[in-house]
Amino acid sequence: MEELRVQRVASESKDSIPTEFVRLETEQPGKTTVHGTQLEVPIIDFSEPDEDKVLHEIMEASRDWGMFQIVNHEIPSQVIEKLQAVGKQFFELPQEEKEQYAKPENSPSIEGYGTKLQKDVNNKKGWVDHLFHKISPPSDINYRFWPKNPPTYREANEEYDKYLHGVIDKLFKSMSIGLGLEGHELKEFVGGDSIVHLLKINYYPPCPCPDLVLGVPPHTDMSCITLLVPNYVQGLQASRDGHWYDVKYIPNALVIHIGDQMEIMSNGKYKAVFHRTTVSKDETRISWPVFVEPPPEHVVGPHPKLINKDNPPKYKSKKYKDYAYCKLNKIPQ
Ligand code: OGA
Ligand code: NI
Repeated sequence: MEELRVQRVASESKDSIPTEFVRLETEQPGKTTVHGTQLEVPIIDFSEPDEDKVLHEIMEASRDWGMFQIVNHEIPSQVIEKLQAVGKQFFELPQEEKEQYAKPENSPSIEGYGTKLQKDVNNKKGWVDHLFHKISPPSDINYRFWPKNPPTYREANEEYDKYLHGVIDKLFKSMSIGLGLEGHELKEFVGGDSIVHLLKINYYPPCPCPDLVLGVPPHTDMSCITLLVPNYVQGLQASRDGHWYDVKYIPNALVIHIGDQMEIMSNGKYKAVFHRTTVSKDETRISWPVFVEPPPEHVVGPHPKLINKDNPPKYKSKKYKDYAYCKLNKIPQ
């Protein structure tokens, strides 16, 4: 049976929406957002010549916020604009054409075009469709899930990934040194050159009742780190002291989330950020997170150099694919 896409639901919803999208009051963004304040998460300037200062800022933000924004990174704005243009064009294709990239039923991988990722509490649905595909390493890429249309889709994604490597290396190095390890140790520990870059495009169509729905429900990312570029429509929220705040949109910035694997490797020193998204009444929001992940068979746990008698491991060591399975099916780790 063909799945119902949110893009179609949105096009057919004039003033009201199907009840499966209406959140419980305790979750509705209209009732649970702290209005009038934007969360000023740390902004880190990568063009700062004092490298120690940048390293320190990355370490502190990873520890105290689990989240930060990078400005003046090395990724040219045209490269990001191209990535965004081709992704938007894909979602604007006729529905039948997008369905050619649908995630096959019962596929063990999450790659493909789809509508729902996690089983949601209370059986509610998020107001979002998505496309997932790997963009690195080259040997892991399955081009079956890369849109052929627009024809520049592949080039734009490859170009973006090329630049992403530099930023990711710098983050791993800083976070590694910030834990008292050698600069190369953290990246090596999660798989070195086999580390996977999984791209997701979130497509949030306009919604007549944005106060009642969520795009992506509250979660932490299961990656090591996530690097995200949104379009200009506000929607990302983070939890701070138990309250939900809008995260300030900064043009051209890269939004960084610390994910579960980083929290685990650091034995809890760095914190995965709890976040969710809201949607807009009259504009389409689109975002492009890249999840930087260990290879599926790779075992991740607290880094051995960070644990001893006084600091016992706070997390289990397990294969990343087993961690992902538990997380997606809401089974305790
Ligand atoms: C996600 C996510 C945030 C956004 O897809 O995991 O948190 O801004 N997206 O769309
Ligand atoms: Ni997320």
